[in-house]
Amino acid sequence: MSQDALKLSVARAALKYVPEGQVIGVGTGSTANFFIDELASIKDRIAGAVASSEATAARLASHGIKVLGLDEIDAPLPIYIDGADEITPQGAMIKGGGGALTREKIVASVAKAFICIADGSKLVDRLGHFPLPIEVIPMAYKPVSQVIARTYGGQPTLRMRDGKPFVTDNGNYILDISGLTIDAPQTMEAEINQLAGVVTVGLFAQKGASICLLGTADGVKTLDFSSKDN
Ligand code: 5RP
Repeated sequence: MSQDALKLSVARAALKYVPEGQVIGVGTGSTANFFIDELASIKDRIAGAVASSEATAARLASHGIKVLGLDEIDAPLPIYIDGADEITPQGAMIKGGGGALTREKIVASVAKAFICIADGSKLVDRLGHFPLPIEVIPMAYKPVSQVIARTYGGQPTLRMRDGKPFVTDNGNYILDISGLTIDAPQTMEAEINQLAGVVTVGLFAQKGASICLLGTADGVKTLDFSSKDN
């Protein structure tokens, strides 16, 4: 099966977690896009969605799905559904390959459950093969790069698009840190989030996935972390 077919399979499988008549949180990326397209088929059964990026808001709206802000709903959301760049067997994730990590973390933080939808290539024993994204205030990208390289030994790269720094929906830059060995994702998440100029690190470990629907050639596997500490 192609990677897209696996993404579609988990997007479809996620529909059964969507509660009737409620507002849900929706993530960003190619897997989330498959989910949004599937969600369109049951749009009359939900009250709307909170989007984790401008791109997701536009795609939801293009299907006629009502897009709401967090100021318009009574948190918590029942579920947040999103992809991941890497996920461990304990449910800790790297996210932010699409640059939406800050809004993703905000929407996930007000959801009771994080349903991760991912093709099987995203399951890893240890995080760090995928470069770790960090959203930074533009003036801080160099000092943050230096601290990260000194402290963790990774190689920070400023994310570029069309010859210019990539700018997030929040007007910030992204550093991608390659060469990391992440043995203690919860600790690293807390430490990096404390650095001056860091908006959000793309580690989702302190609050990881509740459930992961993993697309494999043998079908969709369900990893349930709801009773575990990530
Ligand atoms: C975007 C994200 C995505 O969830 C992550 O990059 C996975 O994307 P895809 O589903 O395209 O593989 O964190 O910021």
